[in-house]
Amino acid sequence: MSALDDVKILVTGGAGFLGSEVVRQLNDKNADITAFDNFSSGKKEYIKGLRNVKLIEGDICDDKLVTKALKDQEQVIHLAALPFIPDCYAQPGEFFRVNAIASVNLMWKSIRSETVRKFVYISSSEVYGTAKYVPIDEQHPTLPHSTYAVSKLSADRALFAMYKEHDFPTVIIRPFNTFGPNITQPYIIPEIALQLLSRKNGRIQLGNIEASRDFTYVTDIARGILMALQSKCAIGETINLGSGKSIKIRDLVFLMAKLVGKKVKIEQDKTRFRPYDVECLLCDNRKAKKILGWAPQVTMEEGLKKTINWIVNNPITFKGPFRGWYQSYYGGSGNVQK
Ligand SMILES: NC(=O)c1ccc[n+]([C@@H]2O[C@H](COP(=O)([O-])OP(=O)(O)OC[C@H]3O[C@@H](n4cnc5c(N)ncnc54)[C@H](O)[C@@H]3O)[C@@H](O)[C@H]2O)c1
Repeated sequence: MSALDDVKILVTGGAGFLGSEVVRQLNDKNADITAFDNFSSGKKEYIKGLRNVKLIEGDICDDKLVTKALKDQEQVIHLAALPFIPDCYAQPGEFFRVNAIASVNLMWKSIRSETVRKFVYISSSEVYGTAKYVPIDEQHPTLPHSTYAVSKLSADRALFAMYKEHDFPTVIIRPFNTFGPNITQPYIIPEIALQLLSRKNGRIQLGNIEASRDFTYVTDIARGILMALQSKCAIGETINLGSGKSIKIRDLVFLMAKLVGKKVKIEQDKTRFRPYDVECLLCDNRKAKKILGWAPQVTMEEGLKKTINWIVNNPITFKGPFRGWYQSYYGGSGNVQK
């Protein structure tokens, strides 16, 4: 018996990287889950075989479908988004439509519904921009560096305002970089792992290796989200989830090379540099500890071993690597047409 037994929970983006782990943990707690996903990056197989999960396939921008998905739901965890930063350089409007506008509509329909009584929004540490001071607490200024991050911040603050306006139980979670299996996007850890595993000569090409990030294993972040869902004290709060440790991308590469037992030589590829990149993210997680009793449990090494092992057993391919926004998106070697 768990507190979430038979509780009807809508998880948007439930087939995604983080969403599928949230769904898996809710399933273990016997919640009655509806995963709402358009499979633009999420995959059905990531939630296959879970007995308490219904699936709604479609777009969170589709008003009628959102109304249908919310029917009888008691709680909502909203993860669906376009999350890969380089994609936003070519589609800023689409990022706002999906990440900001659809989030406001989903929240508004949840407020108007007769059954929903809790809403958890998954924001992002990217809303802070590069650290003005470390570690980054929830009071840190929000100075986003990408239209992705601005779209996430728009939803983050709009939903907080709607919580105030309507006294509707809402929690805003800001996860720092998350890694683990069920990969959907060419985030930095999958990118490094794929190059390390596929190249015999040990040479790998990356962009900004001096940047540092706070990485947390996906089961820990998902556990924090479930804790926020169940905590009365979390209502109306904005809470960081992150390990509280940061690592330079350069050092991450050496650590991963050690784990796969390979010698590595990093070549910096200028075309892979992101414009206006965030240099440093490091989480102050004291609020999560205080309010939720949350602390990360999986070490970086342990998490990396599991992730690499997953990649070895689950071949993944991505579209071409990000190569300088102009060349990539306006007729160069890239993958998005003007
Ligand atoms: N992975 C991280 O490091 C990280 C860090 C901070 C915040 N986040 C946030 O966590 C959430 C999940 O990200 P993720 O890393 O798991 O990426 P993801 O791409 O795996 O997850 C996004 C999910 O939303 C679905 N989706 C996208 N557009 C949709 C639409 N219009 N309608 C319905 N479904 C749609 C995708 O198919 C996918 O399943 C996002 O909101 C992201 O901003 C992720």
